[in-house]
Amino acid sequence: MNQPTNQPTLYFPPINKLGNVAFRRVCNNSGAEFVFTEMVRVEKIIEGDPFQLRKLRIPKDMENKTIVQIICEDINRIEECVDKIVELTHGLFEINYNMGCPQSTMSKNECGGGIVKNPTKVKQVAQALAKACKKHNIQASIKTRIGYDRENINILENVQNIKDAGITKIYIHGRTLLDGYRRPATYEEIGQVKKKFPELEIIGNGDIVDLNSLNNLIKQTNCDGVLIGRAALNNPYIFKELTNQTHIKHSSGIELITTLPAIIELLQYGIQEELNLDYLKQNIVFMTKGVIGSSEFRTKLNNTSDIKEFLTYCENLNINKY
Ligand SMILES: Cc1cc2nc3c(=O)[nH]c(=O)nc-3n(C[C@H](O)[C@H](O)[C@H](O)COP(=O)(O)O)c2cc1C
Repeated sequence: MNQPTNQPTLYFPPINKLGNVAFRRVCNNSGAEFVFTEMVRVEKIIEGDPFQLRKLRIPKDMENKTIVQIICEDINRIEECVDKIVELTHGLFEINYNMGCPQSTMSKNECGGGIVKNPTKVKQVAQALAKACKKHNIQASIKTRIGYDRENINILENVQNIKDAGITKIYIHGRTLLDGYRRPATYEEIGQVKKKFPELEIIGNGDIVDLNSLNNLIKQTNCDGVLIGRAALNNPYIFKELTNQTHIKHSSGIELITTLPAIIELLQYGIQEELNLDYLKQNIVFMTKGVIGSSEFRTKLNNTSDIKEFLTYCENLNINKY
């Protein structure tokens, strides 16, 4: 039996445009102990951008499970940004700073992923974040990558700087900023971090799709928790399947009826949270990727904008399977 070495905490990571409140609920219900908001560009909120503000929607019963991820284009405004996030939320316990965003403007400004090549700046940001979060008694954490490119893997130096700034929780994606997704994640560097800094809480990330990959990451790194992103987008029930050790890969050969319960749950939460269907369509597209018999289903999805009507359609398909 493929037993996990130990039972790590499972997280649903920040996923821009897909990590909405309804999807986060499905993941949490399925076994993701903590879920991230989409990355919030705080200065945009300060300027009054409703799109960014929408990302901060955290229902009361999800307050102790939701981590807010932020990015600040001007690192001198981190304290102001943290104050703003605290003002706009309730019961927040952890704010995470994005040091892994490869989006060109962000990496060019060295405020997202680009920052990893500048350990001094990593330290400055970590110090500012630690100070600002301490003021509100909130845990500060960083999500980062192992380096800028394969010739410049400097995660040990960056983690040292983050630790020196007083931050004790770090999420590490086993890729460099320039790797892209074609190259598989590597876990060796995450393992080196955990070995050198056993006192830090290290959450590993990259390419977890089933029990084998989960066990492999834990065995290689001894990390304390795991983020599962794209595999959860395809199948948010991956969390319960991993916990129950029954995971089946959903990428191909799966029939629509297998994925329907998660889609129905998403739509029900969407209605509860008063979201419109357009907001959830991308999630449903991911959840039916490669699913046999989903083309008619997707046509129906494209031609509907009424969430209740689409839920009824899905429920009828689900009933008719018996
Ligand atoms: C569509 C998409 C959007 C993402 N948005 C963010 C983001 O806003 N912030 C962040 O830190 N990571 C973001 N990521 C990276 C994921 O959080 C995660 O680190 C990455 O997908 C690797 O994990 P996985 O192999 O389990 O998918 C995004 C990834 C995807 C595929």
